[in-house]
Amino acid sequence: MAYRIKNNVYSVGKVDWGLRSFHGGELSTFHGSTYNSYLIKEEKTILIDTVWEPFMGEFLQTLPAETDIKKIDAIVVNHGEIDHSGAMLELMRLIPDVPIYCTPNGVKSLKGHFHKDWNFHPVRTGDTLEIGNGKKLMFIEAAMLHWPDTMFTFLTGDNILFSNDAFGQHIATDKVWADLVDPGILWPEMMKYYANIIAPWGKSVDAKIKEIKGMNLPMEMICTSHGASWRQDIGKVIDTYAAWANAYQENRISIIYDTIWGGTRIMAESIAKGIREVDPDVEIVVLNAGHDDKNEIATQVFRSKAVLFGSPSHNKGILTAIAGIIEELRGFSYKGKKAGVFGCYGWSGEAQKRLAALAREAGYEVVDDGITNLWEPDGKAVEACIAYGRDFVERIKR
Ligand code: FEO
Repeated sequence: MAYRIKNNVYSVGKVDWGLRSFHGGELSTFHGSTYNSYLIKEEKTILIDTVWEPFMGEFLQTLPAETDIKKIDAIVVNHGEIDHSGAMLELMRLIPDVPIYCTPNGVKSLKGHFHKDWNFHPVRTGDTLEIGNGKKLMFIEAAMLHWPDTMFTFLTGDNILFSNDAFGQHIATDKVWADLVDPGILWPEMMKYYANIIAPWGKSVDAKIKEIKGMNLPMEMICTSHGASWRQDIGKVIDTYAAWANAYQENRISIIYDTIWGGTRIMAESIAKGIREVDPDVEIVVLNAGHDDKNEIATQVFRSKAVLFGSPSHNKGILTAIAGIIEELRGFSYKGKKAGVFGCYGWSGEAQKRLAALAREAGYEVVDDGITNLWEPDGKAVEACIAYGRDFVERIKR
Protein backbone atom coordinates (compact mmCIF):
# COMPACT_ATOMS: atom_id res chain seq x y z
CA MET A 1 0.00 0.00 0.00
CA ALA A 2 1.25 3.45 -0.85
CA TYR A 3 2.51 5.68 1.94
CA ARG A 4 1.24 9.25 1.99
CA ILE A 5 4.25 11.58 2.04
CA LYS A 6 2.26 14.82 2.21
CA ASN A 7 -1.12 15.97 0.86
CA ASN A 8 -1.41 14.31 -2.56
CA VAL A 9 2.10 12.90 -2.75
CA TYR A 10 2.55 9.16 -2.22
CA SER A 11 5.51 6.82 -2.02
CA VAL A 12 4.85 3.85 -4.34
CA GLY A 13 8.27 2.23 -4.62
CA LYS A 14 9.76 -1.02 -3.39
CA VAL A 15 11.64 -2.03 -0.25
CA ASP A 16 14.35 -4.55 -1.18
CA TRP A 17 15.04 -6.25 2.12
CA GLY A 18 17.27 -8.92 0.58
CA LEU A 19 19.70 -6.83 -1.45
CA ARG A 20 23.27 -7.61 -0.41
CA SER A 21 25.26 -6.27 -3.35
CA PHE A 22 24.62 -3.53 -5.85
CA HIS A 23 26.13 -2.24 -9.07
CA GLY A 24 27.02 -5.83 -9.88
CA GLY A 25 29.40 -6.80 -7.12
CA GLU A 26 30.85 -3.31 -6.72
CA LEU A 27 28.91 -2.23 -3.64
CA SER A 28 27.99 -4.16 -0.51
CA THR A 29 24.52 -3.43 0.81
CA PHE A 30 24.39 -5.14 4.20
CA HIS A 31 21.14 -3.38 5.12
CA GLY A 32 19.31 -3.83 1.80
CA SER A 33 17.87 -0.84 -0.03
CA THR A 34 14.73 0.72 -1.44
CA TYR A 35 13.81 1.99 -4.89
CA ASN A 36 11.62 4.96 -4.12
CA SER A 37 9.03 6.02 -6.64
CA TYR A 38 6.58 8.85 -6.06
CA LEU A 39 3.06 9.48 -7.28
CA ILE A 40 1.61 12.98 -7.24
CA LYS A 41 -2.15 13.20 -7.66
CA GLU A 42 -3.07 16.81 -8.30
CA GLU A 43 -5.17 17.88 -11.30
CA LYS A 44 -2.48 16.08 -13.20
CA THR A 45 -1.18 12.69 -12.11
CA ILE A 46 2.59 12.51 -12.16
CA LEU A 47 4.90 9.56 -11.53
CA ILE A 48 8.46 10.34 -10.44
CA ASP A 49 10.89 7.47 -11.16
CA THR A 50 10.03 3.77 -10.95
CA VAL A 51 11.83 0.73 -9.50
CA TRP A 52 14.55 -1.74 -10.46
CA GLU A 53 13.59 -4.12 -13.25
CA PRO A 54 13.30 -7.32 -11.09
CA PHE A 55 10.46 -5.57 -9.24
CA MET A 56 8.72 -4.25 -12.35
CA GLY A 57 5.93 -6.84 -12.11
CA GLU A 58 5.16 -6.07 -8.47
CA PHE A 59 5.30 -2.35 -9.18
CA LEU A 60 2.79 -2.58 -12.00
CA GLN A 61 0.53 -4.86 -9.98
CA THR A 62 0.39 -2.52 -6.99
CA LEU A 63 0.33 0.85 -8.76
CA PRO A 64 -3.29 0.48 -9.99
CA ALA A 65 -4.44 0.47 -6.35
CA GLU A 66 -3.23 4.07 -6.21
CA THR A 67 -4.14 5.31 -9.67
CA ASP A 68 -5.48 4.11 -12.97
CA ILE A 69 -2.21 3.80 -14.88
CA LYS A 70 -3.94 5.22 -17.97
CA LYS A 71 -4.55 8.40 -15.96
CA ILE A 72 -0.85 9.14 -15.52
CA ASP A 73 -0.29 12.43 -17.33
CA ALA A 74 3.50 12.51 -17.20
CA ILE A 75 6.50 10.57 -15.94
CA VAL A 76 9.50 12.37 -14.49
CA VAL A 77 12.72 10.41 -14.83
CA ASN A 78 15.22 12.07 -12.54
CA HIS A 79 17.89 9.52 -13.49
CA GLY A 80 18.03 6.80 -16.13
CA GLU A 81 20.01 4.18 -14.22
CA ILE A 82 17.90 1.05 -14.20
CA ASP A 83 17.41 0.82 -10.45
CA HIS A 84 15.05 3.76 -11.03
CA SER A 85 13.96 3.33 -14.64
CA GLY A 86 13.69 -0.46 -14.60
CA ALA A 87 9.89 -0.52 -14.87
CA MET A 88 9.76 1.94 -17.76
CA LEU A 89 9.70 -0.64 -20.53
CA GLU A 90 6.53 -2.33 -19.32
CA LEU A 91 4.97 0.91 -18.10
CA MET A 92 5.42 2.51 -21.50
CA ARG A 93 3.77 -0.47 -23.17
CA LEU A 94 0.65 0.47 -21.21
CA ILE A 95 0.89 4.24 -21.80
CA PRO A 96 3.10 4.63 -24.88
CA ASP A 97 2.31 8.28 -25.56
CA VAL A 98 2.72 9.69 -22.07
CA PRO A 99 5.33 12.47 -21.95
CA ILE A 100 8.61 11.75 -20.15
CA TYR A 101 10.38 14.68 -18.52
CA CYS A 102 14.12 14.22 -18.09
CA THR A 103 17.34 16.01 -18.94
CA PRO A 104 18.79 15.85 -22.49
CA ASN A 105 21.33 13.36 -21.10
CA GLY A 106 18.39 11.49 -19.60
CA VAL A 107 17.01 11.01 -23.10
CA LYS A 108 20.36 9.51 -24.17
CA SER A 109 20.46 7.31 -21.09
CA LEU A 110 16.90 5.99 -21.53
CA LYS A 111 17.39 5.43 -25.25
CA GLY A 112 20.67 3.70 -24.50
CA HIS A 113 19.04 1.35 -22.03
CA PHE A 114 15.73 0.65 -23.71
CA HIS A 115 16.22 1.55 -27.40
CA LYS A 116 12.81 3.19 -27.59
CA ASP A 117 11.84 6.55 -29.04
CA TRP A 118 9.37 7.55 -26.37
CA ASN A 119 7.66 10.94 -26.03
CA PHE A 120 10.63 12.68 -24.47
CA HIS A 121 10.42 16.24 -23.15
CA PRO A 122 13.98 17.29 -22.34
CA VAL A 123 14.17 19.88 -19.56
CA ARG A 124 16.79 22.24 -18.19
CA THR A 125 17.25 23.89 -14.80
CA GLY A 126 14.39 26.28 -14.15
CA ASP A 127 11.94 24.63 -16.55
CA THR A 128 8.60 23.96 -14.94
CA LEU A 129 5.54 21.79 -15.42
CA GLU A 130 2.15 22.98 -14.13
CA ILE A 131 0.36 20.11 -12.42
CA GLY A 132 -2.78 21.90 -11.27
CA ASN A 133 -4.13 23.18 -7.96
CA GLY A 134 -1.56 25.98 -8.14
CA LYS A 135 1.40 23.62 -7.93
CA LYS A 136 4.20 22.99 -10.35
CA LEU A 137 7.28 20.88 -10.74
CA MET A 138 10.55 22.72 -11.18
CA PHE A 139 13.44 20.80 -12.69
CA ILE A 140 17.05 21.25 -11.55
CA GLU A 141 19.83 19.57 -13.51
CA ALA A 142 22.27 17.81 -11.21
CA ALA A 143 24.84 16.42 -13.61
CA MET A 144 27.34 14.03 -12.01
CA LEU A 145 25.32 13.54 -8.85
CA HIS A 146 26.13 10.90 -9.88
CA TRP A 147 25.50 10.47 -13.64
CA PRO A 148 25.45 13.10 -16.40
CA ASP A 149 21.68 12.70 -16.71
CA THR A 150 20.76 13.19 -13.06
CA MET A 151 18.30 15.90 -12.09
CA PHE A 152 16.31 16.96 -9.05
CA THR A 153 12.63 17.87 -9.17
CA PHE A 154 11.11 20.41 -6.78
CA LEU A 155 7.39 20.36 -6.07
CA THR A 156 6.13 23.83 -5.21
CA GLY A 157 3.36 24.23 -2.66
CA ASP A 158 4.36 21.05 -0.85
CA ASN A 159 8.00 22.15 -0.99
CA ILE A 160 9.47 18.73 -1.61
CA LEU A 161 12.79 18.16 -3.35
CA PHE A 162 12.92 14.80 -5.11
CA SER A 163 16.67 14.31 -5.09
CA ASN A 164 17.04 10.84 -6.61
CA ASP A 165 20.37 9.25 -5.55
CA ALA A 166 21.66 12.31 -3.68
CA PHE A 167 21.15 12.26 0.11
CA GLY A 168 20.09 8.60 -0.02
CA GLN A 169 21.37 5.51 1.72
CA HIS A 170 21.20 1.81 0.98
CA ILE A 171 18.88 0.86 3.82
CA ALA A 172 15.79 -1.30 3.55
CA THR A 173 13.19 0.41 5.69
CA ASP A 174 9.43 0.71 5.56
CA LYS A 175 9.54 3.65 7.96
CA VAL A 176 10.08 6.10 5.06
CA TRP A 177 11.54 8.91 7.20
CA ALA A 178 15.16 9.21 8.29
CA ASP A 179 14.15 10.47 11.74
CA LEU A 180 12.52 7.08 12.37
CA VAL A 181 15.59 5.05 11.40
CA ASP A 182 18.30 4.05 13.90
CA PRO A 183 20.87 6.87 13.51
CA GLY A 184 23.63 4.34 14.17
CA ILE A 185 22.71 2.73 10.87
CA LEU A 186 21.39 5.76 8.98
CA TRP A 187 24.40 8.07 9.10
CA PRO A 188 27.12 5.45 8.52
CA GLU A 189 25.13 4.14 5.55
CA MET A 190 24.68 7.65 4.21
CA MET A 191 28.42 8.22 4.46
CA LYS A 192 29.21 4.86 2.86
CA TYR A 193 26.84 5.75 0.02
CA TYR A 194 28.56 9.10 -0.49
CA ALA A 195 32.10 7.69 -0.20
CA ASN A 196 31.43 4.84 -2.64
CA ILE A 197 29.03 6.41 -5.16
CA ILE A 198 28.96 10.20 -5.05
CA ALA A 199 32.51 11.06 -3.97
CA PRO A 200 34.16 10.93 -7.42
CA TRP A 201 32.12 13.98 -8.33
CA GLY A 202 32.83 16.14 -5.28
CA LYS A 203 33.39 19.30 -7.34
CA SER A 204 29.95 18.92 -8.92
CA VAL A 205 28.41 18.25 -5.51
CA ASP A 206 30.00 21.37 -4.04
CA ALA A 207 28.82 23.52 -6.95
CA LYS A 208 25.31 22.07 -6.86
CA ILE A 209 24.94 22.59 -3.11
CA LYS A 210 25.96 26.23 -3.55
CA GLU A 211 23.50 26.60 -6.44
CA ILE A 212 20.65 25.00 -4.49
CA LYS A 213 21.34 27.19 -1.46
CA GLY A 214 21.37 30.23 -3.75
CA MET A 215 17.94 29.32 -5.09
CA ASN A 216 16.45 29.73 -1.60
CA LEU A 217 13.90 27.03 -2.20
CA PRO A 218 11.50 26.69 0.75
CA MET A 219 12.54 23.07 1.10
CA GLU A 220 10.54 21.18 3.73
CA MET A 221 11.33 17.64 2.66
CA ILE A 222 13.95 15.81 0.64
CA CYS A 223 12.57 12.63 -0.87
CA THR A 224 15.40 10.37 -1.97
CA SER A 225 15.36 7.40 -4.29
CA HIS A 226 17.14 5.04 -1.91
CA GLY A 227 16.51 4.42 1.77
CA ALA A 228 14.96 6.96 4.08
CA SER A 229 13.80 10.46 3.15
CA TRP A 230 14.20 13.64 5.14
CA ARG A 231 11.50 15.70 6.83
CA GLN A 232 13.84 16.92 9.57
CA ASP A 233 17.47 18.05 9.53
CA ILE A 234 17.24 19.38 5.94
CA GLY A 235 19.98 21.96 6.58
CA LYS A 236 22.17 19.39 8.31
CA VAL A 237 21.80 16.96 5.43
CA ILE A 238 22.78 19.54 2.83
CA ASP A 239 25.66 20.88 4.93
CA THR A 240 26.91 17.33 5.48
CA TYR A 241 27.13 16.78 1.72
CA ALA A 242 28.92 20.13 1.39
CA ALA A 243 31.46 19.06 4.02
CA TRP A 244 32.00 15.65 2.42
CA ALA A 245 32.55 17.27 -0.97
CA ASN A 246 35.44 19.38 0.31
CA ALA A 247 38.49 17.20 1.05
CA TYR A 248 36.72 15.63 4.00
CA GLN A 249 38.84 14.08 6.72
CA GLU A 250 38.71 13.22 10.39
CA ASN A 251 41.53 12.70 12.87
CA ARG A 252 41.88 9.12 11.65
CA ILE A 253 44.57 6.97 10.03
CA SER A 254 43.71 3.82 8.09
CA ILE A 255 46.22 1.02 7.72
CA ILE A 256 45.17 -1.17 4.81
CA TYR A 257 47.26 -4.25 4.14
CA ASP A 258 47.23 -7.71 2.68
CA THR A 259 49.47 -10.55 3.75
CA ILE A 260 50.41 -14.09 2.72
CA TRP A 261 51.79 -15.60 5.94
CA GLY A 262 51.21 -12.79 8.41
CA GLY A 263 54.47 -10.83 8.25
CA THR A 264 52.92 -7.74 6.72
CA ARG A 265 50.11 -7.96 9.31
CA ILE A 266 52.71 -7.80 12.08
CA MET A 267 54.21 -4.75 10.37
CA ALA A 268 50.75 -3.12 10.13
CA GLU A 269 50.01 -3.65 13.79
CA SER A 270 53.49 -2.50 14.84
CA ILE A 271 53.15 0.70 12.82
CA ALA A 272 49.79 1.25 14.55
CA LYS A 273 51.56 0.91 17.92
CA GLY A 274 54.09 3.55 16.92
CA ILE A 275 51.36 5.95 15.83
CA ARG A 276 49.55 5.44 19.13
CA GLU A 277 52.72 6.06 21.14
CA VAL A 278 52.96 9.63 19.89
CA ASP A 279 49.29 10.44 19.22
CA PRO A 280 46.82 9.34 21.89
CA ASP A 281 43.85 10.92 20.15
CA VAL A 282 43.99 9.76 16.54
CA GLU A 283 41.60 6.96 15.51
CA ILE A 284 43.55 4.07 14.01
CA VAL A 285 41.85 1.48 11.83
CA VAL A 286 43.71 -1.63 10.67
CA LEU A 287 41.97 -3.54 7.88
CA ASN A 288 42.88 -6.55 5.77
CA ALA A 289 42.23 -5.93 2.08
CA GLY A 290 41.96 -9.65 1.45
CA HIS A 291 39.20 -10.25 4.01
CA ASP A 292 37.44 -7.02 4.87
CA ASP A 293 34.66 -5.48 2.81
CA LYS A 294 36.14 -3.19 0.16
CA ASN A 295 33.41 -0.57 0.52
CA GLU A 296 33.88 -0.42 4.28
CA ILE A 297 37.62 -0.03 3.64
CA ALA A 298 36.96 2.80 1.19
CA THR A 299 34.67 4.51 3.68
CA GLN A 300 37.38 4.34 6.34
CA VAL A 301 39.88 5.84 3.90
CA PHE A 302 37.35 8.58 3.06
CA ARG A 303 37.25 9.47 6.77
CA SER A 304 41.03 9.40 7.20
CA LYS A 305 43.68 12.09 6.96
CA ALA A 306 46.30 9.51 6.01
CA VAL A 307 46.51 5.93 4.81
CA LEU A 308 49.20 3.30 5.00
CA PHE A 309 49.13 0.70 2.25
CA GLY A 310 50.86 -2.61 2.94
CA SER A 311 51.62 -5.63 0.79
CA PRO A 312 54.34 -8.23 0.63
CA SER A 313 56.24 -8.46 -2.64
CA HIS A 314 54.60 -11.16 -4.71
CA ASN A 315 55.33 -12.18 -8.30
CA LYS A 316 57.33 -8.97 -8.82
CA GLY A 317 54.44 -6.84 -7.60
CA ILE A 318 51.75 -6.63 -4.93
CA LEU A 319 48.82 -8.78 -3.88
CA THR A 320 45.70 -8.38 -5.97
CA ALA A 321 43.30 -7.42 -3.16
CA ILE A 322 45.32 -4.35 -2.16
CA ALA A 323 45.85 -3.52 -5.85
CA GLY A 324 42.08 -3.63 -6.33
CA ILE A 325 41.47 -1.38 -3.34
CA ILE A 326 43.92 1.25 -4.60
CA GLU A 327 42.35 1.12 -8.06
CA GLU A 328 38.98 1.68 -6.44
CA LEU A 329 40.35 4.57 -4.38
CA ARG A 330 41.82 6.10 -7.55
CA GLY A 331 38.32 6.23 -8.97
CA PHE A 332 36.79 7.67 -5.81
CA SER A 333 39.18 10.65 -6.01
CA TYR A 334 39.22 11.52 -2.32
CA LYS A 335 41.19 14.72 -1.85
CA GLY A 336 43.94 15.80 0.54
CA LYS A 337 45.06 12.39 1.85
CA LYS A 338 48.64 11.51 2.76
CA ALA A 339 50.06 8.01 2.47
CA GLY A 340 52.83 5.64 3.43
CA VAL A 341 53.72 2.14 2.26
CA PHE A 342 55.11 -0.97 3.89
CA GLY A 343 55.47 -4.72 3.55
CA CYS A 344 57.62 -7.84 3.80
CA TYR A 345 59.66 -9.43 1.06
CA GLY A 346 61.67 -12.62 0.63
CA TRP A 347 64.11 -11.82 -2.18
CA SER A 348 63.34 -9.14 -4.75
CA GLY A 349 61.19 -6.58 -2.85
CA GLU A 350 59.25 -4.70 -5.55
CA ALA A 351 56.08 -4.11 -3.53
CA GLN A 352 56.80 -0.79 -1.89
CA LYS A 353 57.79 1.02 -5.08
CA ARG A 354 54.70 -0.40 -6.74
CA LEU A 355 52.42 0.59 -3.84
CA ALA A 356 53.88 4.09 -3.77
CA ALA A 357 53.44 4.51 -7.53
CA LEU A 358 49.83 3.32 -7.41
CA ALA A 359 49.05 5.49 -4.39
CA ARG A 360 50.47 8.55 -6.16
CA GLU A 361 48.48 7.71 -9.26
CA ALA A 362 45.40 7.48 -7.05
CA GLY A 363 46.03 11.05 -5.85
CA TYR A 364 47.68 10.37 -2.50
CA GLU A 365 50.70 12.33 -1.27
CA VAL A 366 53.21 9.62 -0.39
CA VAL A 367 55.27 11.16 2.41
CA ASP A 368 58.31 8.88 2.47
CA ASP A 369 59.90 5.77 0.95
CA GLY A 370 58.02 3.46 3.29
CA ILE A 371 59.38 0.56 5.26
CA THR A 372 60.22 -2.98 4.15
CA ASN A 373 61.31 -6.10 5.97
CA LEU A 374 63.20 -9.13 4.71
CA TRP A 375 61.27 -12.31 5.64
CA GLU A 376 59.23 -12.43 8.86
CA PRO A 377 59.61 -9.49 11.25
CA ASP A 378 61.74 -10.23 14.31
CA GLY A 379 61.95 -8.11 17.44
CA LYS A 380 64.27 -5.62 15.77
CA ALA A 381 61.99 -5.31 12.75
CA VAL A 382 58.98 -4.77 15.00
CA GLU A 383 60.84 -1.95 16.75
CA ALA A 384 61.68 -0.45 13.35
CA CYS A 385 57.99 -0.52 12.37
CA ILE A 386 57.02 1.11 15.67
CA ALA A 387 59.60 3.82 15.00
CA TYR A 388 58.26 4.22 11.46
CA GLY A 389 54.75 4.73 12.89
CA ARG A 390 56.03 7.40 15.25
CA ASP A 391 57.83 9.19 12.42
CA PHE A 392 54.82 8.88 10.10
CA VAL A 393 52.75 10.97 12.52
CA GLU A 394 55.32 13.75 12.22
CA ARG A 395 55.64 13.43 8.43
CA ILE A 396 51.93 13.81 7.77
CA LYS A 397 51.93 17.07 9.72
CA ARG A 398 54.22 18.71 7.14
FE1 FEO B 1 20.25 4.69 -7.68
FE2 FEO B 1 22.38 5.98 -9.91
O1 FEO B 1 21.01 4.89 -9.35
